[in-house]
Amino acid sequence: MAHLALRLLGHFQAALDGEPAKGLTSDRLRALLAYLAVESGREHAREALAALLWPEQPDREAVSALRHALANLRSALGDPGSPAPFLLVTRTTVQFNVASDHWLDVAEFEALKRLDRRLSYCTERREGEDLSCLTAAVELYRGPFLHGLSVAHSPAFDDWLLLKGEEYRRGVLGVLGRLSSLQAARGEYAEAARWARRQLEIEPFREEAHRQLMAALALGGERSGALAHYEACRRLLAEELGCEPDDETRALFTQIRDGKLPRARPSLPTEVSLAPPAEGRPHLSAGGPSAPRFVAREEELARLGVLLDRALAGRGGVALIAGEAGSGKTALLDEFAQRAGLGHPELLALRGSCNAHGGAGDPYLPFREILQTLAGDVEGKGAGGTVSPEQALRAWEALPAVGAALVEHGPDLIDTFVPGEALLRRAEAFLAPAGGRGWQAWLRELALSHGRPGEGTAPAAQPDLFAQVTRVLHLVSLRSPLLLAVDDLQWADGGTAALLFHLGRRLAGSRILLACAFRPEALYQAPDLRGLGDLGGLGSVLQELVREWGEVLVDLDQADGRAFVEALVDSEPNRLGAGFRQALYDHTEGNPLFTVELLGRFERQGALVQDAAGHWMEAHGLNWDHCPARVEAV
Ligand SMILES: Nc1ncnc2c1ncn2[C@@H]1O[C@H](COP(=O)(O)OP(=O)(O)OP(=O)(O)O)[C@@H](O)[C@H]1O
Ligand SMILES: [Mg+2]
Repeated sequence: MAHLALRLLGHFQAALDGEPAKGLTSDRLRALLAYLAVESGREHAREALAALLWPEQPDREAVSALRHALANLRSALGDPGSPAPFLLVTRTTVQFNVASDHWLDVAEFEALKRLDRRLSYCTERREGEDLSCLTAAVELYRGPFLHGLSVAHSPAFDDWLLLKGEEYRRGVLGVLGRLSSLQAARGEYAEAARWARRQLEIEPFREEAHRQLMAALALGGERSGALAHYEACRRLLAEELGCEPDDETRALFTQIRDGKLPRARPSLPTEVSLAPPAEGRPHLSAGGPSAPRFVAREEELARLGVLLDRALAGRGGVALIAGEAGSGKTALLDEFAQRAGLGHPELLALRGSCNAHGGAGDPYLPFREILQTLAGDVEGKGAGGTVSPEQALRAWEALPAVGAALVEHGPDLIDTFVPGEALLRRAEAFLAPAGGRGWQAWLRELALSHGRPGEGTAPAAQPDLFAQVTRVLHLVSLRSPLLLAVDDLQWADGGTAALLFHLGRRLAGSRILLACAFRPEALYQAPDLRGLGDLGGLGSVLQELVREWGEVLVDLDQADGRAFVEALVDSEPNRLGAGFRQALYDHTEGNPLFTVELLGRFERQGALVQDAAGHWMEAHGLNWDHCPARVEAV
């Protein structure tokens, strides 16, 4: 049985017992093996893999192409007949065998990073060990993830490559930063400068690396080199980004120029702890007045649960909830989000709603709400009950990841989707005790330039904004899976509908479930919504999503209304008999709003009363003939 070594950080390399593996002749085979190896924590449905790598082919042909590719891959790896094959293949699924005899550079890279984090928490620092595992991690990074590999016509695979690549790139930059900082602290300035330079090869605009290099040069006795580097950094930022170095970099320059840089343990940036300082956390009330107890809808919740489980396993997608006014769409979305959050401690459940009075004057409203919550704006909503205190804290803890994703991949969203000033204030409250961070300084620049009237950059085109929203959500979902709930879509403005269309088609392979609720007339309406171009209306967008995602529509108008009435009546102790329940159902047809309101009206009128033991019962004189006939009447 051979040993497989897979190197994916840099150009793809596969070796069996030390010899380059033969037979991995096409990029698609290499892509398939790399994907399975990196995503080895779960089974992959054959259809999903086929759609990922052969998206341009009809489903059957794609599945057949996958079958051939798997046969070639298994034979190239020597799997047939092997007692411990590298691939576990069934009729419906494929998974990389984590128990097989293999070595994978990205897995080792992650393990070294974890080890370093553990060491850095030790009270007595073991810098020698720190240094050796950090250096080993850096050596694994030979270049960008799967450098040069591409699968033609597969945007989903490209997205995966990009997101994973970004994760490892940020990972190695963090490791290099810590390495440089540790060596400077030991007085090894030449080494510290080397690691800072390596960061700049990967990310030329990383100001904290520029500062590390300046400090290491100055402390190593090369003061003029340090000053010259500041000048080079200033020119680069001005020419490429049109901005000045940030305050920290300028202050360092002044210190070096004036010969006032302290020798002992320079304050170079180190990794920031991801736990927010307790005093900076948002203050949250426990929510608004308590809502009536949620009842029934188990079947609908189970269907949504299946879609969520898929998303958590990396097969994200869309869920659609349709139903007439008062049918319980909002209640279902809220209950689902709450249960999902309780069941999955990592999940971020975020919510946005369209507004009947917003329209074109308030574009992208639900997505702005979602991104604002994600960017830590949770206090107002948390207090209003829209964001639970638990979810608000999770969003707050995700702030460093979200801030970095926004600054690096969604700069045009700052001040369009997320107010920059407020984000900056939160970022400062969060990060102040831990010292400055590159993205924080960059955010300051962005917020200020956007804030000055007439001086900001030109507004980004819609496709750019959509790509940035998608990219930021994808990046955040690498850290925490996302449940995005969008309510009242029937009132969506054109921009929201177009963004929904864009995002809704780019969720395969992500850990995002986008759950949308709307009244059914929205499926058929085709008003002239600005921003939708040729799409022709929200109805077409929703139909397109149904076409793309298949069985994802939960129709509350088809839900079991009788069961709802029974469950609602039984949510409190009662002696209400079959006759009352039948009459209630006949009047309301199981519409929750109407049923809740009618019961409330009976109580207020004294037609329903409680006996000494607290059981609800009919009073004499309950008259069904005087009830409004439909929900519109209550
Ligand atoms: N499963 C449920 N259990 C208990 N109460 C429910 C349930 N579903 C809905 N309700 C109650 O019924 C009322 C209407 O529900 P909801 O607001 O969710 O309807 P909707 O479909 O969102 O309506 P709209 O189209 O106007 O937004 C609310 O008072 C809600 O609390
Ligand atoms: Mg609603």
